[in-house]
Formats: sequence, structure tokens, C-alpha cells
Amino acid sequence: MARKKKTVEIEIMDNIFPNKSVGQYEGKRVIFKGGIKGQKVKVLLNRRKKDYIEGRLLEVLERSPLEKDLSCDYDDCGGCTYQSLFYEDELKLKKELVLDLFKKEGVEVSNFLGIERSPRVEGYRNKMEYTFGDEVKGGPLVLGLHRRGRFYEIVDTDGCNIADEDFTIIRRRVMEYFRASNTPFYNKKTHKGILRHLVIRKALSTGEILINLVTTSQGEVDVEDFTKELLNIDNLEGSIVSIFHTINDGLGDTVKADKIELIYGKEYIVEEILGLKFKISPFSFFQTNTFGAEKLYSIARDFIGDEKNDIVFDLYSGTGTIAQILAPICRKVIGIEIVEEAVKMAEENAKLNQLDNVEFIAGDVLKVVDDIMERPDLVIIDPPRDGIHPKAINKIIDFNPQRFIYVSCNPVTLVRDLKVFNNRGYRVEKMKLMDMFPRTPHVEAVCLIER
Ligand SMILES: C[S@@+](CC[C@H](N)C(=O)[O-])C[C@H]1O[C@@H](n2cnc3c(N)ncnc32)[C@H](O)[C@@H]1O
Repeated sequence: MARKKKTVEIEIMDNIFPNKSVGQYEGKRVIFKGGIKGQKVKVLLNRRKKDYIEGRLLEVLERSPLEKDLSCDYDDCGGCTYQSLFYEDELKLKKELVLDLFKKEGVEVSNFLGIERSPRVEGYRNKMEYTFGDEVKGGPLVLGLHRRGRFYEIVDTDGCNIADEDFTIIRRRVMEYFRASNTPFYNKKTHKGILRHLVIRKALSTGEILINLVTTSQGEVDVEDFTKELLNIDNLEGSIVSIFHTINDGLGDTVKADKIELIYGKEYIVEEILGLKFKISPFSFFQTNTFGAEKLYSIARDFIGDEKNDIVFDLYSGTGTIAQILAPICRKVIGIEIVEEAVKMAEENAKLNQLDNVEFIAGDVLKVVDDIMERPDLVIIDPPRDGIHPKAINKIIDFNPQRFIYVSCNPVTLVRDLKVFNNRGYRVEKMKLMDMFPRTPHVEAVCLIER
């Protein structure tokens, strides 16, 4: 008979980046996801490893002395981790956790320049992906975020303080609309149902809003009536200029498109940062914290300085933000990006901004770096959370520029990649953290890497 797993009550002694806690039970370390140091928690001891026990956080029994800010009502929502900390304490914690990580991995930074706060701590997100579901099995339709640690349950996040206020109004209206028409949500167990996600994006500087309703093809949605309902909302600060309907019959829980149709307005919204305009379409990457992005790109720009560069590569270029910000200080910038739609947007953005020295190549960095003939004197790298593909990193270093700028949204993969740079004779000259994601365990880092 299988041994019953044990539940224990312990105090969290430490946190590990990102979002892991360490406690102790019978002299052994217990490590599990979630939690804040100082909390007393109930943990399920899942698996004994060589030098620690892997646990699962079940319940917070006592708050940590650090938890002094109780302004969010949704204790069980999985969207945030640090809602209960004062923002200054959150910044301090993130900084300590990243520095601990670098120390543990043995990566040295010549000049660590601290952590920069987000210009907005509330309402900073310009994009939310809400999921349709129910809060309790068989309960009414809900549109919100996943309950912490749960795959099936959705929390109605009315008044969520990290999203723009217009999102809360639209989310509520859409939820009520589909409740009234009894449209079933897509059940992730049975794979039956229609409503999957509602994605809302807002260009915070122009107020333009883009909405993307994601459904399966198992039933019809009256898109004309849905559009009318959205356009009838009269208390938004911004304005809805673009509505899409996406069909996704895939089994995974991510927002992706088997088919996408523009059902109202224009194909994109326009955001402005650092004096440049950027068109954003439903699936193209854009930093989720607009005003934070201005600071982030300014840090990268400061690290580079005013000296004119000849050829600059912007690897993982998205809609071409960094490439265009750097265009004035380079003879030529070449962006490489895998999502074709984002490349199309990047090209349109460059035209919109009247820049003629930027060029974008659609393709996988891993492959494109083999074919490209130009030799850069500066390379910017801004990869997704997984970091640089292990097969691509040495090819990128082979370009042998004097300097790299590495912008990372995941310090764990950053430190892994920096070790490779170190082994190839590069050092981390400067690093600054930028809090692009207040209330969550994530933090962005910008590094200047020099030969
Ligand atoms: C963190 S975003 C950076 C985007 C851009 N630098 C910005 O700040 O807006 C990472 C980008 O890498 C792209 N990407 C992911 N894997 C890639 C690959 N193997 N080759 C090229 N681009 C890739 C993603 O589509 C995404 O646009």
C-alpha cells in the first residue's frame, strides 16, 4: 500500500527566485512553490529528494510580518504573489533574491545598479488574458483569472488592481452578456463548450483598446450583437477601436489561433513610447507595462551611451521597439524575430516613425544567425523567458562584438546564459533591475556585457 503523504506546519525561512519558499522539517529543508518568508504555512510533503523534501503549499496559517498591505481582496487569485507587501518591501525582496541567485551561480557583476521602481504600481498592465470558467463546479459563468494553484477554477477578479480600470469594466460586461445568453464555457476536462478567453489590450498613451474574444468552433457566437454590446459601454476612459474573434480548438490552455477574424474597427492599436509610435496587433509581443517599458528601454539606451554604432543586431525584436529606439545612434539596425505578424508590424512601425536605417528579418534566431552576412559592433538580446537557445548562444557570441546588451525577463535563464558569456571571455560590466511586473514574482534585468 502506498504511504500516505504527510501534511506539516512550518515557517518559511527564506525565498528563492522566482517564487519558491524554503522551510525546515525534521532537520531537512522543505522547498515548495509560493509563499513569503516569515509566513507560517501548511505544506504537503510530496517527494523526498537527495538533500531536500519537495512540498506543496496548501494553506497560509499566519501572515508574514512583511505583509502589511492588505488592499487586494483576492487572496486566492493566482495572478499575483506580492499583493500583501508594501511596494518598497517587494522591491527589496526582488533585489535580494536576484543577487542571491547570482551569488549561488557564481556570476559576478562589476557594477550592480540596484532596482528601478515601476512608474505605476496599480493599473500598470496594458494587457490581460482572462479565462472563462466557473468558480465552483457547476456555478455560474465567471470570467477572470485562475485560482492559485488550480487548473480548472476561475476567480472573478472584479476590481483587480494591476489591470487598467477599463479592463474591469469590459470584463464584467462581457461576463454578464454571456451569462444572460447562457453560452457555455469551454470545459478543460471534457473539451466541450464555446467560450475560452477574452484578451484585452490598451495603448495607455492613446487610450485605444483592442479586444480579442477566443472561442472554440463548437457553437456560434453572434459577433455582431457582441460588438454592439461592447460599443455600448459608455463609461470607459479609453475607446474600443478594434475587436477580433479568434477560433481555437487546441487542447492546451494557451491563447492561440486556428482562425482569427477582425469583426470591428482596425487591425491594431497604436501605443507611443519615447516619442515613437508602435502598432500592436492581437498576437504581437509588446511589454505589458507601458510606462515601465519606457524606463526599461532608457536603461538599455543609457548603457550603450551616445557613441555612434555602425551595425547593431536586435535579436528577438518583437514589434521592433528596441531597434527603433536605437536607430538614431546607429548606421543600421537589423532586428530578428520569429513571429511574422510582429515583423510586419515592426516594418510598419519603422515607416510610421520615418526610420530608414532599420531592417527586420522574420525567422528563428538560431537559423538566421547562420545566414546573416553583416558583422555587428553591438548586439541586443531580449529573448523570451526560456532565454537564449543553448545551440544559438555560442553562434551569437561568435559575432564577437565589443558589447552586448542582454534584456531579460527571467533572471534564472539570464544567469545560465551569462555563465556562457563568462566562459567566452566576456564580463558583466553593469546590471540594473527594472520592476516591470509589480505584485508578481517577476522582474526584468538589463545587463551590459563587455569583452
Ligand atoms: C521578450 S520579447 C522581446 C521583444 C522586443 N525586444 C520588445 O521589447 O518589444 C521576445 C521576442 O522573441 C520572439 N522569439 C521567441 N523565440 C524566438 C526565436 N527562436 N527566434 C526569434 N525570435 C523569437 C518572441 O516572439 C518575442 O517577440
